[in-house]
Amino acid sequence: MTPTLAEYAGEEYQPATEKNLLGKYELGQLLGYGAFAKVYYGWDIESKQSFAIKAINKQRIMKGGLTGHVKREISAMRRLHHPNIVRLQEVLASQKKIYFVLEFAKGGELFSKVSKSRFSEDLSRRYFQQLISAIGYCHSRGVYHRDLKPENLLLDENWNLKVTDFGLSAVTCDDQVQSDGLLHTMCGTPAYVAPEILAKKGYDGAKVDIWSCGIILYVLNAGFLPFNDPNLMVMYRKIFKGEFRVPKWTSPELKRLLSRLLDTNPNTRITVDEILNDPWFKIGYKGAEFSSHHFEIKDGDGDEVGRGGNLNAFDIISFSSGYNLSGLFCDEEAGEMFLSTAEPEEIIGRVAEAAEEERLTVVKRKKWYVKVDGGQYRKFTLMVEVKRLTEDIVVVEVRWRECETEPGPDMWTDRLRPQLSGLIYQPDGPVACN
Ligand code: ADE
Repeated sequence: MTPTLAEYAGEEYQPATEKNLLGKYELGQLLGYGAFAKVYYGWDIESKQSFAIKAINKQRIMKGGLTGHVKREISAMRRLHHPNIVRLQEVLASQKKIYFVLEFAKGGELFSKVSKSRFSEDLSRRYFQQLISAIGYCHSRGVYHRDLKPENLLLDENWNLKVTDFGLSAVTCDDQVQSDGLLHTMCGTPAYVAPEILAKKGYDGAKVDIWSCGIILYVLNAGFLPFNDPNLMVMYRKIFKGEFRVPKWTSPELKRLLSRLLDTNPNTRITVDEILNDPWFKIGYKGAEFSSHHFEIKDGDGDEVGRGGNLNAFDIISFSSGYNLSGLFCDEEAGEMFLSTAEPEEIIGRVAEAAEEERLTVVKRKKWYVKVDGGQYRKFTLMVEVKRLTEDIVVVEVRWRECETEPGPDMWTDRLRPQLSGLIYQPDGPVACN
């Protein structure tokens, strides 16, 4: 049960811990971990539905200067609804972590099956078709995985492929888009990494995903890697040269497709559209079968960001800046709440002043409420509402929309909020932080 405000006030509420997320999910065994995140098995306490819960270390993301990137990636990830992509159910936060509640893929890693024995050409084709269907869908939405590797390929209970970490891979490496518009990141598992990444020349996200799909297809069919050596430098050299041999059971049609996927020149490498027309690929390909739940718009999708109406556990936890998830989602409404002991007029007055200093326009102002926007050219709106919680304490609810297309300061978080910091009351007790 979600704790009530009264329970919170009575300090009975426990904030997210390693075992319990906002009273909503229970965390179980560790499934895996990376540089910035750990993935746990978890379940919805009420419905008992299973999930994989990815806990991301906020501080490391912030220190790495990856906040802006994570925002954009989450925003993209939340829009991906495809039968072969692990679905992001919701995002929650605790003081130190951001939690992604992900669809649970019950069948485990695809490659644990391949390691037992290689797949037949038909089975390899089936998984490759599902993989390309997922990759093509994401690319058409401007989302690139860039870190496709065995750990990211899971199976559901019907042995269908589920690609995970789509759009989140940026969290695991230090990303930069430079002035040539290409990504400059050493990212990915060496054996699956495209030669242009190793060459550090900058790369196109779509092309490197296709290369990785080529390696994956090779492994499904062969049962081993096309470019491999215990010495990393020797392995890199093999990748650069792009010379590989296929096992004798490989059909000429599959061999041809592999040579087009593992083309070391990204400009001539096969594209998703060309793959869809490849004779070997096309056999029995029906395209993705979407079922209605892939389009389901969950009531309250986005609830995890503090929003108006009744206060819930998330609202309470986001009172303090340490728990704040505000502004994570580009072009969606973001929110934050905090407690204050100041008078409502003072709070509203300070917001209006800060907004005017930032050349924003106050479009509506009342004793308990102010609305601000960026005028004709700026995609920013902000609403601040004050509600009384106790005789001495008010709840300040802030909601805004801002679509940043470029990394840079957030209007609320970086410009306005600091000007109000003196008004923010940090309660003692279970949700206090910093
Ligand atoms: N390991 C990492 N992500 C997972 C997921 N979504 N389901 C099952 N196991 C996982």
